[in-house]
This record gives sequence, C-alpha cells and structure tokens, in this order.
Amino acid sequence: MTGFVGAQHAFHDADFVRGWADRFVPTAPRLQLFDMVLDQIEAIGAPAPHVVELGAGPGYMARHILERHDRLTYEALDFSKVFIDIAHETIGDLTHRVVFTEADLTDQSWPSALTRRPDAIISTWALHDLGGRQPVADVYARCFETLPAGGVLVNGDFIKPDGTSWEYEPGRFEIAAHLEFLRQAGFQDPQSIAHLEPNIVDPTSSQNYACMIAWRSAGGRNG
Ligand SMILES: C[S@@+](CC[C@H](N)C(=O)[O-])C[C@H]1O[C@@H](n2cnc3c(N)ncnc32)[C@H](O)[C@@H]1O
Repeated sequence: MTGFVGAQHAFHDADFVRGWADRFVPTAPRLQLFDMVLDQIEAIGAPAPHVVELGAGPGYMARHILERHDRLTYEALDFSKVFIDIAHETIGDLTHRVVFTEADLTDQSWPSALTRRPDAIISTWALHDLGGRQPVADVYARCFETLPAGGVLVNGDFIKPDGTSWEYEPGRFEIAAHLEFLRQAGFQDPQSIAHLEPNIVDPTSSQNYACMIAWRSAGGRNG
C-alpha cells in the first residue's frame, strides 16, 4: 500500500483554526511527548527555567508544562493571531506566567522578537509546517545561536519514518536528516529519544512523530 502523507492548514482563518484546535486535543501518546519535553527542561537543573515554544498553537503543551512546573516562565511564539487568542483561553489562569510573541519562524530575525534569552526552546508538531528541510535547518541554527551554554532544544515533530513506501510532504523528513541539520547548526550530540505513534504501513497525517533533543554544550560552537 502507498499514498501521500501531509496536511493543508489555514493558520490565519478563525473557523479553520477553531476546528483544528477542537480536533487536535491531546491524546495519551501526545501527552507522553509533552512529558518527555518537560523531562528535558527539568534536566537543565535551573530552579526557574525560562522556556520558549516555537509555534505554540492552541497552547496544549504550554498548559501541560506550566501546570507541572510552577516556577517556570514561558514565551509562546506563533505567527497566527487566531492561535494566540486560543492559547490565551487554554492557558487561562496561568497566563500571568506567559508572554505571547507574534513572529514568523521563516523570518530569520525571529530571535530578536523574544523578550529574554531562554534556557530551553521547545516545539511540537509545528516546524514541519514551515514547508521543507531548509526552513527547519534555519530554525535549528537560530536556536543554537539563541540558547546559552547548557540550554536545550527539544523538537517533537512529524517525521518520515524509515522503511515507508509512502510519499510525505516536504516538511516531514527522516530523523537522520533532522539530526544532521542539528549537528550542522552546532549542537554536538543531538538524539532522537522516541518515535511515537509509529505506522509505516498505512500512516495517517497525525502519526509518526519523533522527540529530538539537542543540548548546547558549554564549550561554544566547537567545544
Ligand atoms: C500544531 S500547532 C502547535 C501545537 C502546540 N505544540 C500545542 O501543543 O498546542 C502548530 C503551530 O505552528 C504555527 N506556525 C506554523 N508556521 C509558522 C511560522 N512560519 N511561524 C510561526 N508559527 C508558525 C501555527 O500557527 C500553529 O499555531
């Protein structure tokens, strides 16, 4: 069996975004990914880490993480005003710990929109929407420049699984290519720690995502 895996989105259309947010509520494996992301943030060892989420969408991961780490502060970046409005609603009573930043990740100046330097940069199911390999590689490079020594980047995103005969949209590509782009950005030993909802036989567009982690070592770009 073969076919095409991908999805069309209208991120600035209120009706589309509301419908999408209602359909994409966190399931058990998605919550498992949020917990993996939180584990990496906790591994930094900072008592009150500052976290930036790239493409924060409806704020499901933001809410999950803020509820479980009461000293953490959060910056939710997105280019969609409609999604930022929904994230406000999702995060609700925890909003006072969150800054919402409107910026486009395909504009290489997006780090200058951040209010402060983060200890962790995290993202789930967003970077594949940038449309291809180079925009994701560019985001990895900007993240490396932005993080301090000892900081971490965690990207949980849709990938093209090894061994599939299906065609995937360009933003969904192999884990090995993600890890190579992370190394090229300057991260020393990037790893994929999980492949969630794996399905190479008859995949849907909401299956096959990986949790990829990259620590910025203390020794600078080559150290
Ligand atoms: C699937 S949602 C993220 C879900 C989120 N991780 C959560 O747990 O609720 C993907 C988000 O990426 C955002 N996005 C897509 N392309 C973007 C871009 N070029 N710049 C900034 N945000 C972008 C979309 O607006 C959307 O809100």
